[in-house]
Amino acid sequence: MDVTVIVLAAGQGKRMHSELPKVLHEVAGKSMLEHVLDIALQVTSHEPIVVHGHAGKQLQTALEHRDLRWAEQAEQLGTGHAVAQALPYFETSGTVLILYGDVPLLTASALRGLLEAAKPSGFAVLTAMLDDPSGYGRMVRDPDGNLTRIVEHKDANPQECAIREINTGIMAVSKSHLDVWLPQLGNNNAQGEYYLTDCVEMAVGTGISVGTSVLDDHTESIGVNDRVQLAEVERIFQSRVANRLLKEGVTLRDPSRIDVRGELVCGRDVVIDVNVVFSGAVKLGDGVRIGPNNVISESVIGNNVEVLSNCVIESAAVGHDSKIGPFARLRPDARLDSDVHIGNFVEIKKSDIGTGSKVNHLAYVGDAQIGRRVNVGAGTITCNYDGAYKHLTVLEDDVFVGSDTQLVAPVRVGAGVTIAAGTTVTDDVAPDRLVLSRVRQKTVSGWRRPKKK
Ligand code: UD1
Ligand code: CA
Repeated sequence: MDVTVIVLAAGQGKRMHSELPKVLHEVAGKSMLEHVLDIALQVTSHEPIVVHGHAGKQLQTALEHRDLRWAEQAEQLGTGHAVAQALPYFETSGTVLILYGDVPLLTASALRGLLEAAKPSGFAVLTAMLDDPSGYGRMVRDPDGNLTRIVEHKDANPQECAIREINTGIMAVSKSHLDVWLPQLGNNNAQGEYYLTDCVEMAVGTGISVGTSVLDDHTESIGVNDRVQLAEVERIFQSRVANRLLKEGVTLRDPSRIDVRGELVCGRDVVIDVNVVFSGAVKLGDGVRIGPNNVISESVIGNNVEVLSNCVIESAAVGHDSKIGPFARLRPDARLDSDVHIGNFVEIKKSDIGTGSKVNHLAYVGDAQIGRRVNVGAGTITCNYDGAYKHLTVLEDDVFVGSDTQLVAPVRVGAGVTIAAGTTVTDDVAPDRLVLSRVRQKTVSGWRRPKKK
């Protein structure tokens, strides 16, 4: 099927009370409009056409990385009028799939069902059964069950108001039909708008039967008009992700207390404790255990790694069997080999740390190359920045760094060196030496502490 998608996104979104156009508000770390576009791209290979209103510039800037066509609807005169603004941008005929930029939970399988329903006559509407249908357009059917028209809530009589089947607004209709029907739409209705939904009555009037596809899960059609609905949609999205993870074999201590804002890929027997936020692309290997209150973004975590509570891990790579935290921070380009221990109040930035090395307490390691089996003592600082440039610290294999050491970069410490506690290392050290820079201890006898009179 030759499908072109139109996304309606001209509505102002006044009830969001925001400077940001409504469709740019995010669900799971991605704008609603991008959610809709990503779903659309699963059923079409043509560039989608986005119908925008006054916020066109902001939308185009936010989405400049995407291949899109933009149609302006200067005044919001209704859904039919909005679709009409997009028609001149069509290169092909075929089927037009009309989506809303503020309905981000739809699935591609629902769209495929709708496109299937549109095959016989070139027109189908996606509907849902709601316990409380108020506010929505109602699907009016004849005694044989054929759709006759869609009546908007504001135009409906009490009998029609009782209908529970609603119009989600999502439709598939052939371009040739739209070319005929859209110019005929009037705005003689309660809202004075050009209703796209009036196409149904036109179709039926010319003997075309309109297909319908009913959503199995009506939450897919939830539209966002305010931040209450935005929060609701976020929760539904997150519970979908959590359910998928559970079904794939991930243990979630509480599926309602995980947030995935991106793509999380998990190996076998991964255990994730409560209040963990994942963003961007994150990969967890087999047997990984993530403790409570962790924030992990754009990182790869190897097999059997344990991340204890309260760590922040960003753009890092952690080798297998390593142990991180509690309270550790791995910043961009922290690359840990296998069996590395990073303990509490340790910050690692742009550094390679070799197999079996440990940085267990209160340390800053930045712009460093650390070999294997190195022990970095508590309070060690790489002095990597001279105020203008960053410099490299190299600790070769089996170095022992005593507590409270400053490594003034650029500096290289040879394999097997022992650095005594409290040392400021300013010069390179050849392998296997002891290095210390320390004021000799002085003990004064007979000393009296001052006392208050
Ligand atoms: C519309 C449908 C209604 C359906 C409901 C589902 C019509 C006439 N009514 O209602 O049957 O139950 O959606 O939510 O189609 N938009 C524009 N330009 C406009 C008007 C709307 O781009 O001039 C966009 C909005 O940004 C939004 C979508 O179209 O994304 C729907 O608009 P909205 O005002 O929310 O829909 P209703 O008219 O309430
Ligand atoms: Ca709406």
